[in-house]
Amino acid sequence: MNIGNLTGIFLDTGKLDEIQKYHTLGIVRGVTTNPTILVKDGVGGGWSGIEKHCREILQLIDPLPVSLEVISNDPREMIEQAQMFAGWGKNVNVKIPIHGPEGGTENLRIVHELEASHDIRVNVTAMMSAQQCLLAAMAGATYVSLFGGRVNNMGYDSVGEIRRLRQLLDSFGSSAKIIVGSTREVLNIIQWFEAGADIVTALPELLEGMLVHPYSKETVQMFLRDGARLSGPRLRMKT
Ligand code: E4P
Repeated sequence: MNIGNLTGIFLDTGKLDEIQKYHTLGIVRGVTTNPTILVKDGVGGGWSGIEKHCREILQLIDPLPVSLEVISNDPREMIEQAQMFAGWGKNVNVKIPIHGPEGGTENLRIVHELEASHDIRVNVTAMMSAQQCLLAAMAGATYVSLFGGRVNNMGYDSVGEIRRLRQLLDSFGSSAKIIVGSTREVLNIIQWFEAGADIVTALPELLEGMLVHPYSKETVQMFLRDGARLSGPRLRMKT
């Protein structure tokens, strides 16, 4: 499988059973995580626990990409962690936040260095605007992640930002892939693809909401009921 140009839905979770479930359906094209997701999903045991869990995700979904986020704001540690993650699997993408917690601007230098000198694919994360994403793309990031739900939460229009970003990257001939994450509603997934996202990250429950429709359930129940009438008592309807 050529994974270089894969676009579509990335599952935004660290839960192995959920990844297994949706990967088996053939509908996801990668996985994204962050420290908050891993804590929420119960990953513990320090670095050895993190490594064990992330290696399992990487193997489960190989060769599809998995984004793992650095857990430091120190430039040297960030590079060390990025190299360590890259050693866990060839399908690792390293997430680097667009800037430090107080707006320190060194992160883009790290993005540039990892991509240009270490052959590590970077997903620049925690971005709230097209202009931030444009700079991340210019620094050489493979993926630029706009947090659409958080943009909406601040009262701005995520769809407008995605359209603007799409136009900017296309006009610059940038190969950076637009990831839109922070999904809050099922509707976000289609809306953001329509606006120009290459990838939308979705929580498992939103994928379920996208797939299962009450009227489809009713229709399938009707088919099974009538199928049982046709074929006799051997067919049993499962609820
Ligand atoms: C995407 O890559 C992020 O992990 C995620 O979507 C962030 O979402 P949140 O706003 O729900 O924290």
